[in-house]
Amino acid sequence: MISYLNGRYVPHDEICISPDDRGFLFADGLYEVMRSYSGALFQVQAHLDRLAYGARALRYRVYDFPYLADVARRLIRDNGLAQGDALVYIQVTRGAVPRSHRFPPQDTPLTVYASATPFSPRREEQEQGIHVILVPDQRWARCDIKTVSLLANTLAHQQAFETNSLEALFVRDGVVLEGTHSNLFAVFNGTLTTPPRTNYLLPGITRQVVLDLCEKLSIPCRERSVLASELDQAEELMITGTTVEITPIVRLNGDKAGSGSPGRLTKKLQQAFLEFVNSSSGHE
Ligand code: PDD
Repeated sequence: MISYLNGRYVPHDEICISPDDRGFLFADGLYEVMRSYSGALFQVQAHLDRLAYGARALRYRVYDFPYLADVARRLIRDNGLAQGDALVYIQVTRGAVPRSHRFPPQDTPLTVYASATPFSPRREEQEQGIHVILVPDQRWARCDIKTVSLLANTLAHQQAFETNSLEALFVRDGVVLEGTHSNLFAVFNGTLTTPPRTNYLLPGITRQVVLDLCEKLSIPCRERSVLASELDQAEELMITGTTVEITPIVRLNGDKAGSGSPGRLTKKLQQAFLEFVNSSSGHE
């Protein structure tokens, strides 16, 4: 497997990253996970825009990485992933310097890393739905920045796994925000509802695709806060994300979610999403 580090394509096992790297020492890094379908990158510009947003927010010396689209394409090609589905992982950190809380000198190069791996979507989960749990949100207050500081996410995800669930939804002050690696949608009175963009959740690329599909298909849809206490009134629940695409939630904290099986709107959106992926408009 060939990966990318700071302008070079290197066998994955030979990648060396300094122990002084600020990603390692301070979780001072940003990441993106992109999907390719039959070799074509999905929503690559939206991913690079979000990376740029994070780099600006963290005051990195460079925040535009347009060349990473070509890097991703080359990794897909050189790793023989052009025929099937793959994930491209990108990580950018503030670089390697002796440990200090202060930012490094302005000329310190960022560390830019990327890799591509084969990926098989979990079709069974998408068809049958998954169990999820609610957990207190113990993350920081800038969840809109996609940083590699994911400890709270991994702890919550592990807790879900250990209770036979596949995702945990974060709740802050009674408000449900998103999953550990996905966004949340609920259907109330026939209207698709998703928590609004704030500093407390990641503006998911898949979330935006779903919102756009709703507009295109005239599906009633709105962004508003969702309370944990009203989830039992939702007719349907689903998560969205690069890896999960659109996955129905059929159980919440051990109780039936909605009707207990994937709902009508969920299936309609899954179908529309698949068609969008297969059309050229979703790519590049
Ligand atoms: N995570 N919310 C969080 C906290 C996420 O980490 C992710 C994605 C999403 C969905 O965003 P998108 O639709 O752009 O993938 C929402 C990636 C896939 C990950 O950490 O592996």
